[in-house]
Amino acid sequence: MKAEVDPNVVVYFGGQYVPLHEAKVGILTHALHYGTGVFEGIRAYWDDDSQDLYLMRPVEHFERWKQNCGILRIDVSATAQELCAITVELIRRNNFRTNVYVRPLAYKCAERVGVSPDDQDAFAIIALPFGDYLHAEKGLHAGVSAWRRLEDNAIPPRAKICGAYVNSALASDDAKRSGFDEAILLDESGHVAEGSTCNLFMVRKGVLITPPAHANVLEGITRDCVMQLAQRELGVRVEERMIDRSELYVCDELFLTGTAVGVEAVVRVDHRPVKDGEIGRMTQTLRQLYFEAARGHLAAYRKWLMPVEHAQTESEPGQERVAALAS
Ligand SMILES: Cc1ncc(COP(=O)(O)O)c(C=O)c1O
Repeated sequence: MKAEVDPNVVVYFGGQYVPLHEAKVGILTHALHYGTGVFEGIRAYWDDDSQDLYLMRPVEHFERWKQNCGILRIDVSATAQELCAITVELIRRNNFRTNVYVRPLAYKCAERVGVSPDDQDAFAIIALPFGDYLHAEKGLHAGVSAWRRLEDNAIPPRAKICGAYVNSALASDDAKRSGFDEAILLDESGHVAEGSTCNLFMVRKGVLITPPAHANVLEGITRDCVMQLAQRELGVRVEERMIDRSELYVCDELFLTGTAVGVEAVVRVDHRPVKDGEIGRMTQTLRQLYFEAARGHLAAYRKWLMPVEHAQTESEPGQERVAALAS
């Protein structure tokens, strides 16, 4: 995300496909002042063998986005299928032949002062070439953050609300400035929640363990992929339960999952090695399975993917419908 962005990349904004440099919002936009936006992150992986890009579970991502928008009472009238069609068209127009990150963003767009939101909503979809988010060939060093994870009754972390990401930004900034690759946030009860932009898994005695959905975490789609792969492909037992901070120091393996992050091992936590400080076997295998699935190499998981070149979206919106969806 830190690489320079081509200002001529085509984005979907105001119901039209326009160059990024034309997609502007006013300084008084409600979401800019009060964080009243909801975003998503979707990956498309390039596969050399089939010369195609594969969107990873785009329908689930757009359905989650629309549900989360509902929490903030932002109306995205397009269906998940229509949003997929817009995204496929967007990627085709950009002619990307590399890994891509798709960023849908819906927001309160009224230009005025005053925190109480009204019914003026807008959305945009941006697609950019995107490499590794965390550079982790040898595994990551994570640090437990002094910042606590937001509580559901403050700003729901499951909702990917723009303003909630101040919590992630504070933790991530602190972690990086302290020499860590990523932050691990605890909730107010002191239990492990997740990373700044990713879910967390731990292996103890052959069991794969992750905090439950009610532990102030985002209900990650990559998390779900990994749980399915572990159960079906490796026959591993998966437990959703609270994790103590000190379990991070005594577990056998630790890894992070997320659309941007992928599946990446944590080999040190708070200056302590995880087991022997090497990437663990289950982590390595799940990582490999996930990336094989994401490139369309595992027949059983092709249902997760929407190919961009050979996409058959249920409804290709015409130009009029596309314009209407923008409002
Ligand atoms: C706070 C947080 N947790 C977890 C995740 C992982 O979710 P997903 O796998 O759906 O991308 C993300 C990224 O979207 C995130 O921002």
